[in-house]
Amino acid sequence: TDLDKIRNFSIVAHIDHGKSTLADRLIQETGTVALRDMQAQMLDSMDIERERGITIKANTVRINYKADDGFDYVLNLIDTPGHVDFAYEVSRSMRAVEGSLLVVDASQGVEAQTLANVYHALDADHEIVPILNKIDLPAADCDRVAEQIEDVIGIDASGAIQVSAKTGQGIHETLEAIVTRLPAPKGDRSAPLKAMLVDSWYDAYLGVIVLVRIIDGVLKKGDKIRMMQNGSVHPVDRIGVFKPGMIMIDELGPGEIGFLTASIKQVRDTRVGDTITHEKGGCTQALPGFKPAQPVVFCGLFPVDAAEFEDLRDSIEKLALNDASFSYEMETSAALGFGFRCGFLGLLHLEVIRDRIEREYDIDLITTAPSVIYHILMKDGTDQELHNPADMPDLTYVEHIKEPRIKATILVPDEYLGDVLKLCQDRRGVQLDLTYAGSRAMVVYDLPLNEVVFDFYDRLKSVTKGYASFDYQMIGYQEDFLVKMTVLVNEEPVDALSTMVHRDRAEQRGRAMVEKLKDLIPRHMFKIPIQAAIGGRVVARETLSAMRKDVTAKCYGGDMTRKKKLLEKQKKGKKKMRQFGKVEIPQQAFINALKMD
Ligand code: GTP
Repeated sequence: TDLDKIRNFSIVAHIDHGKSTLADRLIQETGTVALRDMQAQMLDSMDIERERGITIKANTVRINYKADDGFDYVLNLIDTPGHVDFAYEVSRSMRAVEGSLLVVDASQGVEAQTLANVYHALDADHEIVPILNKIDLPAADCDRVAEQIEDVIGIDASGAIQVSAKTGQGIHETLEAIVTRLPAPKGDRSAPLKAMLVDSWYDAYLGVIVLVRIIDGVLKKGDKIRMMQNGSVHPVDRIGVFKPGMIMIDELGPGEIGFLTASIKQVRDTRVGDTITHEKGGCTQALPGFKPAQPVVFCGLFPVDAAEFEDLRDSIEKLALNDASFSYEMETSAALGFGFRCGFLGLLHLEVIRDRIEREYDIDLITTAPSVIYHILMKDGTDQELHNPADMPDLTYVEHIKEPRIKATILVPDEYLGDVLKLCQDRRGVQLDLTYAGSRAMVVYDLPLNEVVFDFYDRLKSVTKGYASFDYQMIGYQEDFLVKMTVLVNEEPVDALSTMVHRDRAEQRGRAMVEKLKDLIPRHMFKIPIQAAIGGRVVARETLSAMRKDVTAKCYGGDMTRKKKLLEKQKKGKKKMRQFGKVEIPQQAFINALKMD
């Protein structure tokens, strides 16, 4: 295809503003997929994505469009995830296209992720076409929202297109705007091959699939390609495009987006952002590299049933093959047995992986409290990364502890502003900015990530009745008074319940934890102290009083079979218990104690 007949674009939007519905419409309007083959939300391929209505993996589709000027165009849409955890995926796929449709729900207005995502698009020098979606809704207010786009984002919204992705109104105008307002890609067909590795994933039939954007040169079937980062060479088996099903073709030229397979063993062997060239006569200058996404939230995953450990290992290995941003290593806990310490891009990423293990592999899991990465500066001058509170070194060797902090942007209707400020303040936040856009306030806070992974989203949702939107970016590490809080049951530390907390919040957290545990641990024949401690100092304590538990008491002697049955039953119950010194703690107690409410 001639470069001037190609348009590459992405759609940026806040969650639920209609990105996927609009993409479906564009696909449908151009006849890319026969109507009968359309599934709701064509682009969201994974079950969990469909169920939760969120897009996780970047997807792409090639659309053929005959424009009003009479020419045939090829439009390549790269779909990007809308959620904050996947900001990295958004920013990298943006580099593969020249323009963006900025979709804003005309009945809602600009939200936190609209901002975060549009900044990625502006960073990538995109031409941006604002789309006011959902104009079929009575609450839609195009003038107000267009004004808001200009005020808050600072781009011209006078040419915003009014669309209803639901009824199809404005879809033709949108296609025309893609052709007339977005720039064509640039590239040199005769130059050595230079392609950007945009994404890669594992396909059960074809193996590793690599999504590429050709910058210069031509990629053909049978070519030997070289990954510039590690120098590995692979013969190309297949080349194709998504329409949105896979269509095999023979070559991809400059400006085009498509996929290749090259008997690459695992996704981990492909580095997103890498430059792909020919083995012989390739380009010498690689594209500016990308930093791989780093996990920021860690937690332990343990099987409820210890016998399922191998199955868990299997499922985690399989998931990791397809998701390089997810890390894991084996972990042993006295309380929970064998499991894995896993690293995620954020809480949603954690939830998605956990759900997939539970659902697709049918394994019940215990998830320990999420934790962030701390830097421990030791007295001997070394700097240790702490991923698991259980590994916290002895304080006598520690100089100080640094924790990650984030810049959080929250958009919220006026009436909830007070509650949001209070929440941020309670979470050790430092206010950076407070501005108004219409009847919404935009608050910017510097917050410790540790306080956000705990239960911040849920609290924010509940104090604002779901009307606030939230987005964040990491800003760096800062020293603070952090301590490891240990939970002791009958004087024995329970490793799985250790957490890192700020000294000023330790009492409060400790109290909540021991009170919860007191209700969760069954009584024993003896008194059981339950304590939260920092080093040797107990900050909260409850005592579970003793009870004489005689299950056969009500059987009035005589009936032996009934007595036996009861004892049998009691034995079975024991299996679901974890032994802690002399104390038995039901599995469920860990699950509930770790629940963040
Ligand atoms: P994520 O994939 O989570 O980022 O969401 P999204 O932005 O792709 O939103 P999606 O397309 O899933 O739409 C969210 C909801 O809005 C769905 O229930 C759609 O049916 C609805 N919706 C989308 N466009 C329109 C529209 O033009 N009018 C109306 N009334 N509803 C719409």
